[in-house]
Amino acid sequence: MVNMKGILVLPLLFAVALSSQSNNKEKELDWWETTIFYQIYPRSFKDSNGDGIGDLNGITESLEYLKELGIGATWLSPIFKSPMYDFGYDIADFYDIQDEYGTMEDFENLMAKAKELDIKIVLDFVPNHTSNESVWFEEALRGHEKYYDYFIWEDGVVDENGVTHPPNNWVSVFRKSAWEYREEVGKYYLHQFVIGQPDLNYRNPEVVEEMKNVVRFWLEKGVAGFRVDAIAHLFEVDKADFGGKYPDEPLSKNTDDPDSYDSLDHIYTKDLDETVEMVYQWREVFEEIKAKDGLTRVMMTEAYSSPQMTMKYFGNGERKGAQMPFNFVLISDVNGRSSAAEIKYALDKFLTFKPIDEHANWVAGNHDNNRVASRFSPELVDGINMITLLMPGIGVTYMGEEIGMVDGFVSWEDTVDPSGCNTDDPINYWMSSRDPERTPFQWSADKNAGFSDGDKTWLPVADGYENLNVEVQRHSNSHLNVYKALSALRTDKVFRYGRYESVAYNEGVFAFRRWYNKKAYIVVINFRQEAYTIDLTYFENVSKKVEVVVRSIQSPKNPRDILQANQVEILGSESLVLRVL
Ligand code: GLC
Repeated sequence: MVNMKGILVLPLLFAVALSSQSNNKEKELDWWETTIFYQIYPRSFKDSNGDGIGDLNGITESLEYLKELGIGATWLSPIFKSPMYDFGYDIADFYDIQDEYGTMEDFENLMAKAKELDIKIVLDFVPNHTSNESVWFEEALRGHEKYYDYFIWEDGVVDENGVTHPPNNWVSVFRKSAWEYREEVGKYYLHQFVIGQPDLNYRNPEVVEEMKNVVRFWLEKGVAGFRVDAIAHLFEVDKADFGGKYPDEPLSKNTDDPDSYDSLDHIYTKDLDETVEMVYQWREVFEEIKAKDGLTRVMMTEAYSSPQMTMKYFGNGERKGAQMPFNFVLISDVNGRSSAAEIKYALDKFLTFKPIDEHANWVAGNHDNNRVASRFSPELVDGINMITLLMPGIGVTYMGEEIGMVDGFVSWEDTVDPSGCNTDDPINYWMSSRDPERTPFQWSADKNAGFSDGDKTWLPVADGYENLNVEVQRHSNSHLNVYKALSALRTDKVFRYGRYESVAYNEGVFAFRRWYNKKAYIVVINFRQEAYTIDLTYFENVSKKVEVVVRSIQSPKNPRDILQANQVEILGSESLVLRVL
């Protein structure tokens, strides 16, 4: 009987909890829950001093543009001191600004201007590695024991001819052995990325504390959070568990090329549980700083991992982690060839796996992946922006996606990204290079697309910028104006609090409905070039008419047009946001 009672009481409590939740659905949302996060790649955004490289003052003078877009937060790719082997992801001093980008004073000015405009600044935290030019690494090479233990060292393997080889078969993300020999210490160090990025040893508590202090330093300056770089790679197995030697990783069968990162199954170097624990510890630091000044700090984690693994970063019920483990489905799972069903399947993935009380987030582009216009198509730019800004959850935009920038052509001679250079292949390098999505931001039809007054820019400006830039798009039926309309629409309660359902009508047309109380919108995107006629009365409470609110730039329809819901013709690659009447 006691058991019976227990069973009866539980559902009752659950029902009470549910009903209080529904009364509470308009709970006040914190700044990060409603904003759009705009990623700036500082090197390519705006050059204020004519050296052909973007900088902090350039960002400061362009913050009004973010305001114009309706954006409340920006995350900056790394701005710290770096020899730039991986363009700032190899940090020599976590406490200082790279000269090319400016000074600490410039950073303070940026923070002040951002505060004035109510734009939050989020920085990039690169915890997995330092630069090989960091004081810590240099001290390690000098034999300073404390700093030697900051990194991961291993003896080479000597073959029968007396030749020394790397300790095991581990491969760098950017190709070739992940081990590099240093004569000074007679050992190899681990670098999961370029040779200039030695991995930190997170099994050393001093490293853990040292990196927490880096987080504290910037959060105390008023930074609103961090995007955490390459988190999946933070820990390797403990070699003590493997007889004191790091074990080989099993072959993956994905490729025969032993230099390729894909040739191995990364069971000893990626997605380890200890990594998740570290994220929870950083969140505690975030809370510690929030307790002092009241501002919620947000953490976004970068991991191209399974949904099960990704969700662990949110927390484990008892402990909290990142508010935004990045959702990369629009990058990893689909592209312009995907059918509407594949799109639906991909979008449902994060929503299905995520904990009920957490937010989804939508990332369609970044500095590591080809641009939306190139991966999908220029015609689908507005449709993808409709997805990232109107799906339930937090919107993330990589700079330039609001105007539909396309990948730039960067010749082998001009290629600088290590991921491209390490292919040693002047023909196929472009498939691995990330330079095309990093070309300068296109502000206007002026010299260097208005990015720089200099004679040369660090990467060439993409062709076609004369017609594809912010200035032109301000005054026309443009991606920019569609984006602005979407970001304004996003403040509607339907998109803040409303529910969601979706359907793949056929091969091409994907549609979703958002509704709240009596108000509803339907977003329709045609992923194919052929036209279809669809019946929107499929959706509940849609019976007669719908009104066009926003439409993709090539659409012949106009805002305020009224359509018969049971017979909507949707042209090839057309995208629409419709209000249900
Ligand atoms: C992340 C960054 C990428 C960088 C790598 C190593 O994936 O986004 O640009 O090369 O980490 O830090």
